[in-house]
Amino acid sequence: MNQVPTEKTLDHSLTLMNEGYLYIKNRVDRFGSNVFHTRLLGQKVICMSGEDAAKIFYDSERFQRKGAAPKRVQKTLFGEHAIQTIDGQIHIHRKKLFLSLMTSTQQNRIAQMVYSKWHEKVGSSRPSMILFEEARNILCEVACEWTGIPVKKHEIPHLAKDFTDMVYAFGAVGKRYRRGKKARKKTEKWMKSMIEQVRNGEIKAKNESALQVMAFHRQLNGKRLSSHMAAVELINVIRPIVAISTFITFSAVALHEYPAMKTKLEVADSTYYDCFVHEVRRFYPFAPFLGARVKQSFVWNNCFFKKGRLVLLDIYGTNHDPQLWDEPHRFQPERFRNWRSSMFDLIPQGGGHIDNDHRCPGERMTITVMKASLDFLVNQIEFQVPSSQDFRYILSTVPTLPKSGFMMKEIKKVN
Ligand code: HEM
Repeated sequence: MNQVPTEKTLDHSLTLMNEGYLYIKNRVDRFGSNVFHTRLLGQKVICMSGEDAAKIFYDSERFQRKGAAPKRVQKTLFGEHAIQTIDGQIHIHRKKLFLSLMTSTQQNRIAQMVYSKWHEKVGSSRPSMILFEEARNILCEVACEWTGIPVKKHEIPHLAKDFTDMVYAFGAVGKRYRRGKKARKKTEKWMKSMIEQVRNGEIKAKNESALQVMAFHRQLNGKRLSSHMAAVELINVIRPIVAISTFITFSAVALHEYPAMKTKLEVADSTYYDCFVHEVRRFYPFAPFLGARVKQSFVWNNCFFKKGRLVLLDIYGTNHDPQLWDEPHRFQPERFRNWRSSMFDLIPQGGGHIDNDHRCPGERMTITVMKASLDFLVNQIEFQVPSSQDFRYILSTVPTLPKSGFMMKEIKKVN
């Protein structure tokens, strides 16, 4: 039996921080193995990458999410005891709740709201804007309206920043982490009071709005979620909608870096927009890896997965795996023309089945909103891109973003 490679030296947490998105991929390439042992945050960890690894990772007989997400991620990104950290029937029941909010009618509705908001914010012309900031404000405003949460216009930029701070605290230490933690505490308190006001009738939530559905959802045991838990899960709807701003920003970077794409998109049908959006989600970095714990000991690829061991699945590396993607470091939407998803190959929002596994329930919504925003950028406006900005994004920072947030000038409506 071949030995599974093991990282030498005591702990690799610092190396992980230094190499960020490339930590797992660098070792998979160096060891010539899609699985290896390492030690992170004081514990033994197995890292794995690629389609077969993803298939194993989503086998719920072998892995569980309970105990996998570090407290610091729960205190910023997910919220404590949220859907990301539960398993089995309780998870499937909670997942149904999320999916019930994200029907195709609702995906189209939210995309239409985003598209109208872009028109409203740009008007007939606008001297300049930073795309990332504008996108997160628009998405926050739309997300609040769509979920039925009453907010005043002037509160939107602060709220949008709080939601982004939660996302950008992942993988951070120091100030960035503290900002995310503070934002979560504040937002949970606010959402909790909103849920309580809906329950006691002080706020009348629209029928079937996410606010109303979360407030009155019944768990498998027939009980309502605690008002705190309902708040956490409501944030799990709004925060990721705001996070689509990152992919919208990367879409603009792609249009700028590959100008021929714009010409293609101007005359393309909706199918090519799907290809482009898939390629943005594959090519550019966002979620780096996923974690789960071994539920029952087993052997896979000569590797012993001991019960309780933390295992990381490489998202970035799988999306750039040369065994799956021809010339993975080339931006090439055409690769998705006749693509048939195996459910474990393109995994920027997780893999497996959307209903039973932890795969992102907002994936279709993300695609629809990205397509609407791309249509606006390509067909509705003309703009200049000042060369005095820094588009670079650093793979050692997780999550990352083009440094300038993508600055646009002399924006003019053309339609
Ligand atoms: C789960 C990424 C948008 C709601 C996930 C997962 C990833 C992800 C990587 C984890 C999958 C796993 O654990 O196996 C993203 C990215 C997005 C996005 C990159 C776009 C920027 C959305 C949207 C929503 C959403 C728009 C809701 C409106 C969720 C929820 C989960 C989740 C509730 C937990 C699912 C579960 O544990 O069963 N997402 N997501 N996400 N996402 Fe998204």
